[in-house]
Amino acid sequence: MARPIQIIPSILAADYTRLGDEVTSVDGAGADRFHLDVMDGHVVKNLSFGPDVIRAIRPLTQKPFEVHLMATPAIDWIQPLKAAGSDRILIHVGLEANVSAIVQAILDSGMQAGLVLTPDDDAECVMPLLDLIDYINVLTVIPGFGGQAFMTSLLPKITELRSMIGERPIDLAVDGGVNMATVPLAAKAGANAFIAGTGIYSAGASRYAETINAMRMLANANRPIGV
Ligand code: DX5
Ligand code: ZN
Repeated sequence: MARPIQIIPSILAADYTRLGDEVTSVDGAGADRFHLDVMDGHVVKNLSFGPDVIRAIRPLTQKPFEVHLMATPAIDWIQPLKAAGSDRILIHVGLEANVSAIVQAILDSGMQAGLVLTPDDDAECVMPLLDLIDYINVLTVIPGFGGQAFMTSLLPKITELRSMIGERPIDLAVDGGVNMATVPLAAKAGANAFIAGTGIYSAGASRYAETINAMRMLANANRPIGV
């Protein structure tokens, strides 16, 4: 069964002076859910935001919140992120020694769990956890900052993951440098979820709907049959 195409804004690229409006605008423009990059300055060389900001924007939309967790120890953040209104946590396969225990703790908390592969992580890393998770996020840039170029050298990894996933109900996302030019490449390779910060927010509020619709159309037009 083909997984639905999803267009997922990352608020990392939003205008923080108007964050509430930036959330409601992309919500109204057709975003399927929200991608929230939580960074602690250690896992990646940047600091972003945490549970307080997530709690503040939670009432502004009914759409699910997925947290891309770049903070350790991960186990300490599960309850605060859940309490703030998160629906899913995505963790890097190499984040800490026992990633399967973290995934299990996320599931035990009542949230959904996903895995993130950095550009250096091989597709096989997800194998042991494929039956626990419902989401794989392929980072197509070095994590930590928005506005970088999509690494096309990672397209074969997306195709490999799509075939490993098989019939499992797992979404395959790309994150980093996702825009109108790269959505078709990622869709062709087998991705069905498209996380975009700069690619959406740089369009400006008056063009959010047009941009999200165009990305969805390009993804649908380019996906291989059956993906
Ligand atoms: C990078 C983050 C991305 C980031 C993508 O570490 O994981 O979610 O927001 O930003 P763009 O879409 O600007 O490349
Ligand atoms: Zn992210």
